[in-house]
Amino acid sequence: VNIYIITSRVANILNESQEIQFEVKIPKNAFISKFRMVIEGKTYGGVVKGKEEAQQQYNQAVSRGQSAGLVKSVGRTLEDFKTSVTVAAFSKVTFELTYEELLKRRLGKYELLINAQPMQPVADFKMDVHIQEKTGISFLEVKGDLSTGDLANAIKTTRADKDAWVTFYPTRDQQTKCKSCGENGLNGDLLVTYDVERRNPKGEVMVSNGYFVHYFAPSDVPRIPKNVVFIIDRSGSMQGRKIDQVKKFHNDYLCDLDEDDHFGLITFDSEVSLWKSELLKATETNLENAKSFVKEISDRGATDINAAVLAGVDMISRHPREGTASILILLTDGDPTTDTETLIHTNTINLMNRTTRFGYDVNFDFLTKMSLENGGVARRIYEDSDADLQLHGFYDEVAVPLLTDIQLKYPGGTNLTKTSFSLYFNGSEIVVSGQITDNSVESFTTEVIAVSKGSNVKYQDTIMTKDPSDVPPENEDFMQRLWAYLTVKQLLERQVLLKGQEKEDEKKEALKLSLKYQFVTSLTSMVVTKPQEEEVEVAEKPEEEGREHIDDAPILGNNHDILIFFPKVNRFLLPVVGQSKPLCFDIPVPHRLRLLQDSASEFSMNGESLSEQNGFHQIAFHYKTNHHLIISTKSISYRNGQDNVEFLWGQEPTQYNTDSVSLVVLKSEMNVTMGNIGVIILSHKKDGVMFLWPAIWEYSKDANLTGVLGKADISYEEAEGSQTPTLKIKDKEVKTSLETVSDYRSHSTPVRECWLVPFQALMEAEISDFTVTQL
Ligand SMILES: *[C@@H]1O[C@H](CO)[C@@H](O)[C@H](O)[C@H]1NC(C)=O
Ligand SMILES: *[C@@H]1O[C@H](CO)[C@@H](O)[C@H](O)[C@H]1NC(C)=O
Ligand SMILES: *[C@@H]1O[C@H](CO)[C@@H](O)[C@H](O)[C@H]1NC(C)=O
Repeated sequence: VNIYIITSRVANILNESQEIQFEVKIPKNAFISKFRMVIEGKTYGGVVKGKEEAQQQYNQAVSRGQSAGLVKSVGRTLEDFKTSVTVAAFSKVTFELTYEELLKRRLGKYELLINAQPMQPVADFKMDVHIQEKTGISFLEVKGDLSTGDLANAIKTTRADKDAWVTFYPTRDQQTKCKSCGENGLNGDLLVTYDVERRNPKGEVMVSNGYFVHYFAPSDVPRIPKNVVFIIDRSGSMQGRKIDQVKKFHNDYLCDLDEDDHFGLITFDSEVSLWKSELLKATETNLENAKSFVKEISDRGATDINAAVLAGVDMISRHPREGTASILILLTDGDPTTDTETLIHTNTINLMNRTTRFGYDVNFDFLTKMSLENGGVARRIYEDSDADLQLHGFYDEVAVPLLTDIQLKYPGGTNLTKTSFSLYFNGSEIVVSGQITDNSVESFTTEVIAVSKGSNVKYQDTIMTKDPSDVPPENEDFMQRLWAYLTVKQLLERQVLLKGQEKEDEKKEALKLSLKYQFVTSLTSMVVTKPQEEEVEVAEKPEEEGREHIDDAPILGNNHDILIFFPKVNRFLLPVVGQSKPLCFDIPVPHRLRLLQDSASEFSMNGESLSEQNGFHQIAFHYKTNHHLIISTKSISYRNGQDNVEFLWGQEPTQYNTDSVSLVVLKSEMNVTMGNIGVIILSHKKDGVMFLWPAIWEYSKDANLTGVLGKADISYEEAEGSQTPTLKIKDKEVKTSLETVSDYRSHSTPVRECWLVPFQALMEAEISDFTVTQL
């Protein structure tokens, strides 16, 4: 099971409480297993409960006027998880969502899809993927729209023997420069594709803490011939592009058949017609004729899938199936009320035994049920610009059958997940997990019996369970979770097949496991009790309808984290005459700010800060029209129309004076006097990174200073009797909190207590009123 952790830290920098949203997209196949919020050091966790209990709690919340955040499907592969919380002024909230997913091997690879859409460029965006595979990693590739353009430079991959790491740390600037990114930052997917080394055709077995998992994906057997019946829906709803795509698909599939394959064609609307009554050998002539037939198909009439499928089954069952794979490919939009096309393939063993007729209320559920009953796959093809590609992807997956009638046996195992599969295709994988009956035995045996091309095959393997190198200690419980994940998934999938007591029993079992392992499934909901309001929020998975059902299952082996950190700030200190505690305020970095301005003397000082450091990396002075001083962490340059002067940090004390400008460079500070304004720029170093901080030491009391540091005449009183600390500033009540600030105005950088107030409350203006486009 792949465990994904998404962390997002958001600060409310406003003076009032604010609703903060957390929204992420996670793969549909995943189960959410943990969610928590940390607000002011307190953790509010989500608890997975049965649907009914959760619903009750939710109803109570609704009756108090609250809303709920649910997981809902978005598009083909992702689901939306959304929640929000009200965060007090100047507080921070950390959201942490954990979900688990078993990756599915398709076409010889695993695809790990991570969506990022933080809705704004983020100062410190990190995605870390760690893949750990016991048998080694055979290849690794990073794709997806987040790997395009400028963002390609933000991706680093590192590979060792059994481990691979992919890091994606785009700078704020890069976050706006990819194909699908814009002003709002990243918006897209990262797709990590890889496969593992498979030296042992008998598969890999891992054992830990009383559980085992067996990955079986042989490729050492020849392709077996196919008996394939194409069932083509030509009802009215298939009109237009759909029928064209379907025809093209069949045409391509026909081209790909081998001489030892047999095939048949059936078209249907309200009537079923067979192209030929028997399966035909895939000879050149037969294929040419079939292609001409497919070309002529046009849409008309209503849909009778039922009759068409039965005709297909009949056709296939009359053909000898010894050593072949029977495949029924049905392309239909199924439900006339939706615009999705559905495609189904099935091995038809059980279809022959069908006694009940299907109703006409055909939808994806129905097709899923039908394919499950027959060990098949129902795949939803979305009517999108890439429907052709989707169809081909599906075709490629079922193009090369290697084994049929696969039975997996584990003499020392119990509580096994599904062990019988009708077909195994090249590039896929069968995963079985279970408990070990006797944990004291030292070996564990796996046995696979299947039918290969014209013969029975048997794979038998015994591994030592006490091999300590097998499982790293941090993954000890991992096998158990994987077992629980697969069991719950299969129990839920089987629900559509069952009736009566059996259905109830399996449902109960799935619920029990979902609760025990805290999975959010279609039977459970996650209840999050929020702070203050005692608000209850329920997260639940959408109904199973529309989910993909599979009989070939996937893998385990890695972890990844996405860490998203939200705005970092520069905290400014504002001393107040007559008060022991200064005020302080925050401005998110990066920024370019007007720090100080005096219009009368044509003086201005602007500063630029970067997201990865404190303070400023560059400060510029402009005085009259001709004096310009640029101080950066690297260099200092001054020009006045006559002289160009360069200084260096750390050089011997140096002075430069004209009639109205005086510059003194000392070891790690620079004194600047322009007219009647004097400022010291201090250079600091923190964590090895140098930055600048300005301190005003002289100005004329008559000057009308503006800018972030221009506020000099502020005063406040502590308001009495309110629950939260409140200050009275200019007759206005302002909520505050006691915080600390590093006083960078002196080299020793003392840490002082201060009343943190919103910038807006203090300045009676927005931060944007103080930003400049150019230094
Ligand atoms: C199965 O796939 C593997 C790897 O993609 C390939 O080498 C092998 O030839 C395939 N087997 C058949 C029978 O096509
Ligand atoms: C049909 O299915 C039933 C129940 O699944 C089974 O008992 C019976 O043997 C099957 N009949 C045939 C002819 O396979
Ligand atoms: C927050 O600041 C704004 C703008 O200065 C002001 O209008 C508002 O009253 C303040 N709110 C609180 C709760 O202090």
